[in-house]
Amino acid sequence: MATNKGARLLSDPAFPVLKEKAIALTGLSYWSDKDGPLADLLVQLLERLRVPAGALARRLTQEDGQGGATQALVDAVTVGETFFFRYREQFEALEQVVIPDLIERNRPLRTLSVWSAGCSNGAEAYSLSILLNRRFAVPLAGWEVAILGTDINASALAEANAALYGDWSVRDLSEDVLHECFTPQGGRWRVKPAYRQGVRFAPHNLATQPPPGRFDLVLCRNVLMYFDGETRDRVLLSLREALVESGWLLLGHAETQPAVAEVFAPLVLPDCTLYRRKAAQKPKPAPVRPPAARPPVARPPAAPAAKAPPSAEMWDLEACVRRLLDRGEFSVAATRCRAWADAHPLDPAPHYFLGLALEHLSEDLAIAAFRRALFLAPNLALAHFSLLRLFVRRGEYGPARRHYVSMMADLAGLPIHQPLPLGMDLTVGELAAAARRLGPSP
Ligand SMILES: C[S@@+](CC[C@H](N)C(=O)[O-])C[C@H]1O[C@@H](n2cnc3c(N)ncnc32)[C@H](O)[C@@H]1O
Repeated sequence: MATNKGARLLSDPAFPVLKEKAIALTGLSYWSDKDGPLADLLVQLLERLRVPAGALARRLTQEDGQGGATQALVDAVTVGETFFFRYREQFEALEQVVIPDLIERNRPLRTLSVWSAGCSNGAEAYSLSILLNRRFAVPLAGWEVAILGTDINASALAEANAALYGDWSVRDLSEDVLHECFTPQGGRWRVKPAYRQGVRFAPHNLATQPPPGRFDLVLCRNVLMYFDGETRDRVLLSLREALVESGWLLLGHAETQPAVAEVFAPLVLPDCTLYRRKAAQKPKPAPVRPPAARPPVARPPAAPAAKAPPSAEMWDLEACVRRLLDRGEFSVAATRCRAWADAHPLDPAPHYFLGLALEHLSEDLAIAAFRRALFLAPNLALAHFSLLRLFVRRGEYGPARRHYVSMMADLAGLPIHQPLPLGMDLTVGELAAAARRLGPSP
């Protein structure tokens, strides 16, 4: 049911346009069947902007996804309820299970990176900072700890940056924590600098943008539930991309659906479920063919070679390089890959990983490295995919199409759930779907 003003807006021809734009901009299909409440929110927005519905619709069309009116619409239709230490049982699981695991695994690197995706006014990100500072100050001393909060709601991000909260936001905190971590200010509570250090906020749209980095831990709570199934599944894949190998994901309680367990490995605790990026399948090495044995142009679909598992030394090299890539240490990763390639001249893996590292340093050199990987293993689908991605990015659609066709030919006939060589847990179906999304189709 809408208010009177809302009901009037419902019969305005601009309403369907505003509704369509609100959903398209945010991915919030939640609004598809809630015309009354949506109309009420839009009435408030129109009154604030002092424009009629038709004028706003026209302005949104002119702005084409970016501009003041667009941001005002996004801010108006996003649901930002949050508070400090929401779902305390999840913070207990973080304290008992997740953070100790990450400290153990990251000890050699002494870094910890966390993403609060859909962070609203930042209470979630600061809660985590408070937890880390209060409970893990000793083991994390000297570490580089980074917490990134992102959202599409610009007003929420402004609040997050101000770090100033009302009583409602801190309602679940004990007096001890409140006074230890906040300073009272004009009837509100400001997070103390020690707990703001290492926490930053940035705009990011989960429904349309790739992840803003790789993280050890991602909290994406009470966001997916507002998306439709297709958007949710796409965002889940993107969240997986955002996680380092075996990294952790926390969702809201209402979001633990079967679709999640298809992408992540659940860890069911008495009071909550945590998810992990599935551990790496021991990659079956891509087939190594000497140059003379390269296949003819029209080749039958080739299955990834089931060869002897990699030696412990190669496994270590690969794990080390993956770690460096996860950390964004691309130059060091490239140096390691070159040494690896020198030691194992017929192995395509170092060239493939070298390509991944060089993508961030020199696209031309990356292309050369991926081509060397394909020279040694012509049906290494991931190398074709990387080249497809690079050529699409450069707008060179001829070579992009050739790699698309070769890759699809290599994948044809393989079971869609089969993991790919060098792809960690990435499957044939996922790679094919990603390539289709990128285009270009033949
Ligand atoms: C209910 S709040 C959740 C806040 C916090 N994660 C929590 O659980 O307490 C949902 C947040 O998701 C944000 N959001 C909605 N759609 C989004 C999108 N497409 N990309 C990024 N954030 C989005 C909203 O702006 C809102 O701040």
